Amino acid sequence: MTTGGPVGVGVIGAGVISTQYLENLTTFPDLKVLFIADIDLERAKAQAEKFQVPGSGTVEQLLAEPDIEIVVNLTVPAAHVEIALQVIAAGKNAWTEKPFSLDRESGRALLAEARRLGLRVATAPDTFLGAGLQTGRRIIANGEIGVPLTAIAMFQVAGPESWHPNADFYYAKGGGPLFDMGPYYLTALVQNLGPVSRVSAVGSRSTAIRTIAAGPRAGETFPVDVDTHLGALLEFEGGASAQCVFSFQSSIRRVGFIEIDGTAGAIVFPDPNMFDGELTLWRDGVDEPERIAASGVLSSRGTGVVELAQAIRGNRPEQASGELGYHIVDIMASITDAAASGDWVAVQSTVVPGAALPEHWDPRSATL
Ligand SMILES: NC(=O)c1ccc[n+]([C@@H]2O[C@H](COP(=O)([O-])OP(=O)(O)OC[C@H]3O[C@@H](n4cnc5c(N)ncnc54)[C@H](O)[C@@H]3O)[C@@H](O)[C@H]2O)c1
Repeated sequence: MTTGGPVGVGVIGAGVISTQYLENLTTFPDLKVLFIADIDLERAKAQAEKFQVPGSGTVEQLLAEPDIEIVVNLTVPAAHVEIALQVIAAGKNAWTEKPFSLDRESGRALLAEARRLGLRVATAPDTFLGAGLQTGRRIIANGEIGVPLTAIAMFQVAGPESWHPNADFYYAKGGGPLFDMGPYYLTALVQNLGPVSRVSAVGSRSTAIRTIAAGPRAGETFPVDVDTHLGALLEFEGGASAQCVFSFQSSIRRVGFIEIDGTAGAIVFPDPNMFDGELTLWRDGVDEPERIAASGVLSSRGTGVVELAQAIRGNRPEQASGELGYHIVDIMASITDAAASGDWVAVQSTVVPGAALPEHWDPRSATL
């Protein structure tokens, strides 16, 4: 359908994050949520009732709905590509939660199939479209720190099993601190420093088994299949570099740290897993840093789906594109390979980051 009015949306996956998505997707005037699907039909029905979404049921039923143009894929990482392939095979565009794919091969296959069908396979994170990171983007693009040269990014916690009722997926392939949290930090870095050309890394795994601590499965143990700490060094195509820590094995909670240093100043961004927050700017020769509030409209998860809908109707590329998501997966797979081999690994893919959004772009404005 290419008529005017809101774009029809279906949601697959009615788990923990679906609540935050549905709170937003059901209030954006450019979108109309029509159906929620899950392998757990009761869960899909409960979310549909809670958010007054007209339909719920199976994935097949959702894909048969003619008015759905975008399917928001909120399944677990291991199902992301399989579901996105089903979505585009049904002639619909996909928005997939991060990571875009678990490995390079399946990610490349998904991109190729979407290109062949002329459909979009956009992907989270969309936090980089929020007021906080967009304010930082504009400050750097305006040359306020000179030429950005180096960056430091840090995410370290004890692990999500203390609060997530099904935390085992965080420790399977496609999880770990790198694949789970890396997309937020790496996307923010790529947006500001450009694509990554090569990486080196060291990894470790503090325990072979972990225990779910919250919800009905509390006490259940599960195996740890991925490194739970990674220290990585990134070189960007333009010559910049970044040092990154991604850890699920620290008793110190230090999250959301991104600093970018340039030839004329330095900036600390707000948490890249958030849509707003304060920034701190140091200008060369000025002793006191400047605190800068995020400027622009506060948004939340699902913002990228609105931007995708507007891009589809406007016949232009979406910001949170599959190409960007694939480049992030390629960086993460390269960090994993580098940690395993001890060698530098060249990142084969590249991407051209989209321009900063207009300052007052508002996902809650009706534009379609
Ligand atoms: N929980 C968070 O705070 C959070 C934050 C940001 C992003 N995410 C991402 O969102 C995604 C989902 O996370 P979650 O925490 O909601 O997980 P979850 O386990 O709570 O929910 C996943 C849902 O998907 C359903 N599902 C799985 N495979 C399916 C399939 N093949 N077909 C249909 N339904 C299927 C499950 O039944 C479940 O209801 C993950 O990619 C995660 O990385 C989660």
